Amino acid sequence: MTAHATPAAEESSERLCGLLAEFADAPALVEAARTVREAGIRRFDSHSPFPVHGIDGAMGIRPTVLPWLVMGAGVAGAIVALVMQWWTNAVDYPLNISGKPLFSLPANIPVTFELIILFSALTAFFGVLALNGLPRFHDPLSQSERFRRATADRFFISIDARDAAFDATRLRGLLEGAGATAVETVYEAPTAAQIPPVIYLAGIVVVSLALIPPLWIAKDRRSTSDTPRMHPVRDMDDQPRFQPQADTPLFANGQTMRLPVPGTIASGDLRDDDHFFRGTEGEQFVTTLPPQVQPVTLAFVQRGRERYDVYCAPCHGLAGAGDGITSVRALARPDSPGWVPPLSLHSLGVREQPIGKIFNSITNGIRTMPAYNAQIPPQDRWAIVVYVLALQRSQNAVLDDLPPEEREKLELRDFRN
Ligand code: HEC
Repeated sequence: MTAHATPAAEESSERLCGLLAEFADAPALVEAARTVREAGIRRFDSHSPFPVHGIDGAMGIRPTVLPWLVMGAGVAGAIVALVMQWWTNAVDYPLNISGKPLFSLPANIPVTFELIILFSALTAFFGVLALNGLPRFHDPLSQSERFRRATADRFFISIDARDAAFDATRLRGLLEGAGATAVETVYEAPTAAQIPPVIYLAGIVVVSLALIPPLWIAKDRRSTSDTPRMHPVRDMDDQPRFQPQADTPLFANGQTMRLPVPGTIASGDLRDDDHFFRGTEGEQFVTTLPPQVQPVTLAFVQRGRERYDVYCAPCHGLAGAGDGITSVRALARPDSPGWVPPLSLHSLGVREQPIGKIFNSITNGIRTMPAYNAQIPPQDRWAIVVYVLALQRSQNAVLDDLPPEEREKLELRDFRN
């Protein structure tokens, strides 16, 4: 609290901290430091307005251990980084990414480098503080009026009263003998070194704030809500926007979703080949296959059969007789009024159709039959048409379908009885 130049205050409750000696110049300081050291004192320090050459040697200051601490921290950082990455990536949760090795040194260098730097920097920072006994709330020397000149034009040696060889009377004589212009005894009030209450308060506030994230996480981990459990950065979730199907006052028809501009065609979607895409030529249904599917190969017919069995057979039956399983089941139910049985594809009305019309029935549906253009691409629709023709031929064969020699054999037979 207060520093006293006279021994008069020694009876008070104040604690003896040490001696403070003032010197006029740097050489005197160096000499005095050497004298104090040679007198067996170890806990002492020198204070000067600028760095003084030779003072380290005179005081017997040894090199700091800080570099070794920093190196140890760097090595520890490297080990932590490598083990952490190896454990997470190769052991605890191995993820095969493009067949790369689960652990390889080059890929793990960046994190390793960062942890080396982080650990070393923190050790250097906190190491300097710790080795210097910082932070300190109070230094008894700062109470001395005289000591203020240590940053301007005076040189000081302070001796700590806790030194084993401390003896105020002997040291005072020693310092004065070494050329001190003044020697002070430094005292400190017992309360001076106490930590100010505001620091405790700040600590409590910081610890309370630090508890919020873990408590929040603990709460969210137990949550069963179906909204995202943790959602601190809401960004685009809260931006003003229209939901699909919602209405809006912005447009005359009140719809949020806009239709494409009339006549818009998606890239590659210009279907201007009527024969291939619609089975028409002008107003007429075509009677020939489009050039894209010609000449018809066996593989194409087989493709048509396979697609027919998938898309058509459930209603029209495997042979096209209109007896598909869906229809048979529907008709068997007493409660299916209004079920329209699918046409037999062998009925005369269908057999006489131009093939473009069959294609059109598949594409756009017809009466109660749904459209299949969304499920079946045009190429496959033509394959189905070809297979329907094959089915029709199979059920309605005529003599002309046979090779001449087979036909002759049949014509010779008498069918009348
Ligand atoms: C959901 C059942 C169902 C499926 C699947 C179905 N159809 Fe039909 N189809 C019908 C019905 C029902 C009719 C008769 C419609 C009517 O008369 O109202 C019909 C009629 C037809 C006709 C006759 C059209 C006309 O001009 O009278 C053809 C040809 C035809 N279907 C072909 C197909 C082909 C090829 C497929 C496969 C891509 C198919 N259908 C799939 C139910 C189906």
